[in-house]
Amino acid sequence: MSNYHIKNLEEYFQVYRKSVREPANFWEEVAEEHFTWRQRWDNVVSWDFSKPEVKWFENAKLNITENCIDRFLFNDGDRTAIIWEPNDPSENAKHISYSELHKMVNKFANVLKENGIEKGDRVCIYLPMIPELAAAMLACARIGAVHSVVFAGFSSKALATRTNDADCKMMITADGSFRGNKTIDLKGIADKALEECPGVETVLVAKRIEADIEMKEGRDKWLQPLLDEASDECIPEIMDAEDPLFILYTSGSTGKPKGMLHTTAGYMVYTAYTFKNIFQYRQNDVYWCTADIGWITGHSYILYGPLANGATTVMFEGVPSYPDAGRFWEIVEKHKINQFYTAPTAIRSLAKTSSDFVEKYDLSSLKVLGTVGEPINEEAWHWYNDHIGKKRCPIVDTWWQTETGGIMISPIPFATPTKPTYATLPLPGVQPALMDENGNEIKGNQVEGRLCIKHPWPGMARSVWRNHQRYKDTYFATFENMYFTGDGALRDDTGYYRITGRVDDVIIVSGHNLGTAPIEDAINEHPAVAESAVVGFPHEVKGNALYGFVILKETGESRNKENLRKEINQQISEKVGPIAKPEKIQFVSGLPKTRSGKIMRRILRKIASKNTENLGDTSTLLNPEVVDEIIENSL
Ligand code: WT7
Repeated sequence: MSNYHIKNLEEYFQVYRKSVREPANFWEEVAEEHFTWRQRWDNVVSWDFSKPEVKWFENAKLNITENCIDRFLFNDGDRTAIIWEPNDPSENAKHISYSELHKMVNKFANVLKENGIEKGDRVCIYLPMIPELAAAMLACARIGAVHSVVFAGFSSKALATRTNDADCKMMITADGSFRGNKTIDLKGIADKALEECPGVETVLVAKRIEADIEMKEGRDKWLQPLLDEASDECIPEIMDAEDPLFILYTSGSTGKPKGMLHTTAGYMVYTAYTFKNIFQYRQNDVYWCTADIGWITGHSYILYGPLANGATTVMFEGVPSYPDAGRFWEIVEKHKINQFYTAPTAIRSLAKTSSDFVEKYDLSSLKVLGTVGEPINEEAWHWYNDHIGKKRCPIVDTWWQTETGGIMISPIPFATPTKPTYATLPLPGVQPALMDENGNEIKGNQVEGRLCIKHPWPGMARSVWRNHQRYKDTYFATFENMYFTGDGALRDDTGYYRITGRVDDVIIVSGHNLGTAPIEDAINEHPAVAESAVVGFPHEVKGNALYGFVILKETGESRNKENLRKEINQQISEKVGPIAKPEKIQFVSGLPKTRSGKIMRRILRKIASKNTENLGDTSTLLNPEVVDEIIENSL
């Protein structure tokens, strides 16, 4: 599929230049390979970033599940589509073939229909990493329903907000989930959310932990009996290229998460193309991405991208540390993994454990290693390269975003040389630009600026769900005629890109994209809190950790500070999720503010990272005296 067999840097540049000269021809060639189209497109791409409006493969008709499943049935029905590895290593793994997946998805699709779900309806999926999660998403896609997966680590509040924003008619959840040596009461969390979600008519419940849970009469139904009864034939709904495929929420710099809307044909073509080229997947390889499907990485590179290539993709229910820090490597040996894709934060935490956990296992099946989610530091890169790849596996440092749908900047294994901490080169078809603060493009090499993309690519999100204005304001208003990523980047003397991090109020903690605003909102809801500011600071394992500065109301000042910290953390866990809990919370009497009342986060960031030597000019602050106090009491 769409494999350009790029063998070296020179060939890369040839293909790349062609993709820039003739983008429509380039993408047309990609789309022409292998996919099942029910009707061909009239036009490859039309776009206007000022609206913004982007259409790929206009008027083409297709169903993505036909491309991800049915296409392989005739010749390769017995090939394994999904290897499911459970949380507990003593439980058996499951090998689900393409024909079994076909039956499962069809049955599930029929269950959705029988429960009133029609084309265009939104279905919220709140499930752990079990096969039902993959089947649920594909079942939605089969009948043209729009899935909105909410990561199963999110709190009831976060789940409710997302469910309501997308106006979901149905929720699919489980009786609970396993996570290391813990069980999580997923249904309890869902029930709490559902109290605030009047639009949800039906809740389908998968059985995973055999917990004794409450089933609400008339609303909740056990999934398995319905699947058992359902027909395993379901004719795929014929979708338009630009029909919505899914919504996935990502945090923004203001309170409400943004429901990024991805559409059908472009997303399919883009994830398939990037998967094939970046992981150099060959038939019969076993590929494993350790992400959770609740994030875009899982959508694109556990599910859609691999399946669109007829690949064998691993879905892991557990965590890297259970039963011990050797779990990842045990799985690599057990399933003879060929391509392994994980996050820098996981690498850093495993690199800190004894090397025995690695040496014990045979990792010789590995061919390509990947990272995603945040910049990878030099040390972690080398550990990954030396201990896991044994210096023979190229590392693809893949830069992309929920909004981009798929990987944008990454090495191509064996073709474009890697360079530690560099995402390296844009894929053919991707046109990055670095911009200065005055809105001018910075040309040439050895430069640094704000990372933008100048030409549409098929995988890009088309809108923010029911808030097109926000889509425009966030991504297309900063620089004219450009998609603005929110990241800063530099370009070295050979044209390689290195992502330097966010330039907005988003902080990446352990690879999770967190907006500061919703966390501050959660803190501020505590009755003893007057105001707060959350910033990021460098952390050895997490990449960044959060530091909260909190001003108390008078009523709070006399309270035990440790208890207050606990309550605030509890509040954040409930409103946003446990991943958003700050590493440190400092109580302060004021926050440094500009005269217009804007918190000077730059100063707080410096204090949090213990870098207070050069705070810059603080004299223009409304309250410069507060800075010394904060420094003195900093944690
Ligand atoms: C942000 C997007 C894309 C899936 C996971 C995160 C950061 C992502 C890299 C990388 C440096 C990276 C960026 C980006 N990021 N990959 N290889 N090197 N930074 O998706 O939650 O939408 O976050 O993650 O800052 O903007 P997301």
